[in-house]
Amino acid sequence: MSITEVDVRQPARPAPRRSMPELRDRRDQLATRIALGDAGAVERQHRLGKRTARERLELLLDEGSFVEVEMYRKGAGGAYTDGVVAGSGTVDGRRVFVYAQDFTISGGSLGAAHAAKIHKVMDLALATGSPIVALNDSGGARIQEGVQALDGYGGIFRRQVEASGVIPQIAVVLGPCAGGAAYSPALADFTFMVRDTAQMYLTGPDVVAAVSGERVTHNQLGGADVHGSLSGVASFVHDDEDSCLADVRYLLSLLPANNLEPPPAVPHDDPDDLRPALADLVPVEPNRPYDMRDVLVELLDDGEFLEVHQGWAGNVLCAFGRLHGEVVGVVGNQPRVLAGVLDTAASQKAARFVRFCDAFGIPLVTLVDVPGFLPGTEQEYGGAIRHGAKLLYAYCEASVPRVQVILRKAYGGAYIVMDSRSIGCDLSLAWPTNEIAVMGAEAAVNVVHRKELAAAADPDELRAVLTAKYTEELVHPYYAAERGLVDDVIDPAETRSAVARGLAVLRDKRRRVPARKHGNVPL
Ligand code: HXC
Repeated sequence: MSITEVDVRQPARPAPRRSMPELRDRRDQLATRIALGDAGAVERQHRLGKRTARERLELLLDEGSFVEVEMYRKGAGGAYTDGVVAGSGTVDGRRVFVYAQDFTISGGSLGAAHAAKIHKVMDLALATGSPIVALNDSGGARIQEGVQALDGYGGIFRRQVEASGVIPQIAVVLGPCAGGAAYSPALADFTFMVRDTAQMYLTGPDVVAAVSGERVTHNQLGGADVHGSLSGVASFVHDDEDSCLADVRYLLSLLPANNLEPPPAVPHDDPDDLRPALADLVPVEPNRPYDMRDVLVELLDDGEFLEVHQGWAGNVLCAFGRLHGEVVGVVGNQPRVLAGVLDTAASQKAARFVRFCDAFGIPLVTLVDVPGFLPGTEQEYGGAIRHGAKLLYAYCEASVPRVQVILRKAYGGAYIVMDSRSIGCDLSLAWPTNEIAVMGAEAAVNVVHRKELAAAADPDELRAVLTAKYTEELVHPYYAAERGLVDDVIDPAETRSAVARGLAVLRDKRRRVPARKHGNVPL
């Protein structure tokens, strides 16, 4: 086409240009229309007891801090946003990247454009060293987009693994999260769920019924309580979205933005260190239960802590808190549940927590009061050895400052696993009351003196004498301290100051490890 031809086609009068205020109005109207969404679908979302994606982001982020990306992007279905609201914002002034699936658009299902937006914020989170929070509420892979949707999920999973241990990843499940989509929360560091409205499962109730004849509801199959207390998939369970998102903010306040940044310390000018209550909290009798949470209240600043997996494997307690303003991760046996024994679930729970703390430079405080491993075929068949090895591996590998406090008893292999000197704790403290041994005194006497006891005229009397002797000679903290396995025997009331002092000394700890691709953690 020649220039002349083009000139001929020019309209006689140029099309009227719109003024900037007009263009801005049009833009504002469109943005408002997109943000408000479909009134009927929003009303349905509210009727189900759920907030919209934008309402959730308002609750999660500091007021007015949300910066959205690709709001005008359309997917194959033609809807703006393609069912996911993505961008960044701040929480207590610290930057985070976020995406919130919008169930009011195609059930929040994931198509190619939807996935590309998620990939974009994940890439930006990793590039800027910022945490990422995913608000999940979705029917899963968008059925009309076939394999493109599956490809989109794969891209999320790959990015999650790449970012693992570099930036904190938090998944919040606020609606359905079915099929392979459930692997995204599973790959996150922490998963929040809300009761009644959130479900996660690989195959839904209809498939379950067709395959096995078993009839279950969505919540019976994959509700928040199932994952918060039986499967361990959910790290936090809440009654409603408001308290859930408030706790996401609380968790973020305790985490560094990335693995190169120190955990966020706060000024602390009132150490309030002497805690006489500690001595009375823990009964001297080795089998009397007490609540390890009461010890944490005395140990940590303002008696505050955030417990991870509170409803699962209650025999071990994992929590974040602060000591003299510095973030610490606490692992404690919980004598109130199963006498505080280690079992398959407790080992997995504590191992994952220890690995997270290590990846993000959070010092570990281990509070030990453990009678041993839970015996039985169920445990052995369930892989108690394999799962216990995870916790052992996690501690052995951890290069963060590690302080062990033995409160009352530490027996057998469980003593070793709970961050003993032999596997690398930096500072081991013991209360004067404690018992560290291969096994309880009476059980030890029954093994070692089996022949004498069988031949004795009065075996019970002999057993009592031998038990007292064994206890006197071996079962006290000084036996361990004399052999360098315990650094100090401390007054319980001084635990807070002793741990804080130890962590202050260890703050600049660095450890070199031999070059390797990665270790082979027993999964
Ligand atoms: C396309 C979907 C969709 C999906 C829901 N919708 N899920 N559209 N792809 N996966 C649409 C519905 O058609 C409906 O559109 C709207 O979203 C709301 O859905 P409802 O069914 O009306 O809502 P509700 O009754 O609350 O039920 C929610 C639901 C159900 C339980 C999630 O929609 C459902 O079972 N969806 C299919 C789930 C599924 O099989 N997903 C694929 C999983 S496999 P209209 O236009 O009517 O409003 C998977 C593989 C991932 O995800 C693999 C990754 C590796």
